[in-house]
Amino acid sequence: MSKFIATAVLLFLSAFHLIGQNSLMVNAYNRASISLNGDWKYIVDPYENGFYNYRYQPFENQDNPGKGAFFTNAKRADKADLVEYDFDKMEDLKIPGDWNSQEEKLFYYEGTVWLKKSFEYKRTAKGKRVFLYFGAANYRSDVYFNGKKLGAHVGGFTPFQYEVTDHLKVGSNFVVVKVDNKRIKHEVPTLNTDWWNYGGITRDVKLIETSETFISDYVVQLDSNKLINIKVQLDGPELAKQAVTIDIPALNISKSIVTNASGKGMLSISSENIAYWSPDSPKLYQVKLSTSQDEIEDQIGFRTIDTNGPDILLNGKSIFLKGISIHEESPITKGRCNSKDDAKQLLKWVKSLGCNYVRLAHYPHNEHMIRLADEMGILVWEEIPVYWTIAWENEETYINAENQISEVITRDQNRASVIIWSMANETPTSEARNHFLGKLAKFTKDKDPTRLISAALEQHNFQGNKNVRTIDDPFAKIADVLSFNQYIGWYDGNIEKCQTIQWNIQENKPVIVSEFGAGAKFGLHGDKDERWTEEYQEYLYQETLKMIDQIDQLRGVSPWILVDFRSPRRVLPEIQDNYNRKGLISENGEKKKAFFVLKKYYDAKVWPK
Ligand code: GCU
Repeated sequence: MSKFIATAVLLFLSAFHLIGQNSLMVNAYNRASISLNGDWKYIVDPYENGFYNYRYQPFENQDNPGKGAFFTNAKRADKADLVEYDFDKMEDLKIPGDWNSQEEKLFYYEGTVWLKKSFEYKRTAKGKRVFLYFGAANYRSDVYFNGKKLGAHVGGFTPFQYEVTDHLKVGSNFVVVKVDNKRIKHEVPTLNTDWWNYGGITRDVKLIETSETFISDYVVQLDSNKLINIKVQLDGPELAKQAVTIDIPALNISKSIVTNASGKGMLSISSENIAYWSPDSPKLYQVKLSTSQDEIEDQIGFRTIDTNGPDILLNGKSIFLKGISIHEESPITKGRCNSKDDAKQLLKWVKSLGCNYVRLAHYPHNEHMIRLADEMGILVWEEIPVYWTIAWENEETYINAENQISEVITRDQNRASVIIWSMANETPTSEARNHFLGKLAKFTKDKDPTRLISAALEQHNFQGNKNVRTIDDPFAKIADVLSFNQYIGWYDGNIEKCQTIQWNIQENKPVIVSEFGAGAKFGLHGDKDERWTEEYQEYLYQETLKMIDQIDQLRGVSPWILVDFRSPRRVLPEIQDNYNRKGLISENGEKKKAFFVLKKYYDAKVWPK
């Protein structure tokens, strides 16, 4: 490739922040690793003085970045030397963890923070290749290893990795990450959201050692013909004619695939006595994939998900999704969730509500949530933050959204609990928006044809009749499942209005009411027509559930929202104080009266009718 073309390709990739990243390895979660979690030194850098020189030119583009660049972790050579920073004299942040909830002075901070981790490394016998893996960092990350730029990642809620085999030294090493959570109009999400913009390395960081040639990607899934379809992909110098063995001991399966020249292999296996995964019986099978050099284990549930007219079919049977929406905010740290304990607390509340389903809003949550949902038998809707007024005309914005859905599919493609990929939330219809979502849906279906596509769609009066509502969104033609948010009784009239509204949905497809709700301050009591009281929220739930139960195609509900959550939009003193109060549970774990209305509705729900 000529130097000119090579430069052009690099410019294209770096423009879209894709440079340097390796394609994500599947099941990093179960790979042997060296954790880099713990104390990281940090420098707050609002002017990005550690990245740009005084002419606003990036240090990294200069042959000799000098000692002004923070990513070199420079030290004074002698007493005459000028170095205007010193990571090792700075304070620590706990990683994984956002900075807003760890440091009072960073509560509202949106900008660049530099994070540095030094560590000792000794090569193990197995480790022929080494990867630096991040569960997520919000929002833009520039990653440097022993002073060398590995690459940049955009997107605050999906994993990314870099191969560091050639940069790693036996002995002392250091990683420097520039994390910038400034909100920017053409990003995903865009400038305006209704959640706290927690910045930082918000999920686990680890070094993963692999063999020279390893199993980088695989799918092991049941298809609608009840066949277990297996696809594997190797990464490394020896791709062709490699034997990959799949063992599922509990099904007495042990089969081998031989890879083709590009290291790909496929196989379909039938098995009579599979115990299908479901909320009532979340059976997970131990699955091992191995080659002469590599071995990886996973816990996989086998189930099918499909639609037939208005029905959602799990293992061929119609189901009703008794759900709740959740933001990724920790009831323990009051910041971004990142631990198994966070996931356990949230999903324990979900189970106590009588749910079999969660809508993980409005971005991919951490992997602990998905793996615990697999274990507990909770169905999952996952979405990327294509939220409200996205820059639909901007090509970089589309590539960003596509990259985020691609990363979360790669991470969760073997998780039985995940049944729906959502393309968007409450996005105003336009030619550009319809094209963007249509393209994104096609990409998603091509990458994962086994799951359902949805989005929180637009709904308006039916043919101008103010007492009849319908979903009048072009994306309804593409979605497998129609979902919409509605706030009659909160943003739209009073609660009695629920008694006058009919829903007339034209498509013969399953319908999920993906949001409804009302704000209530825990412990504030009064008349049921007094806003912010628990009684108001309770009454709205009672009336809304009666209204939506009349929708013939209704197959699921995920009210807004499980727990009160932080939002800079919510500033009403003594009531909101930077919290969105639509939770059924307060941020301190206190259950409001409406919690019990929804629980009673789910406990009484007989399905099929
Ligand atoms: C919208 C939006 C949520 C928001 C909620 C609210 O429907 O999807 O993200 O928090 O309404 O206004 O509380």
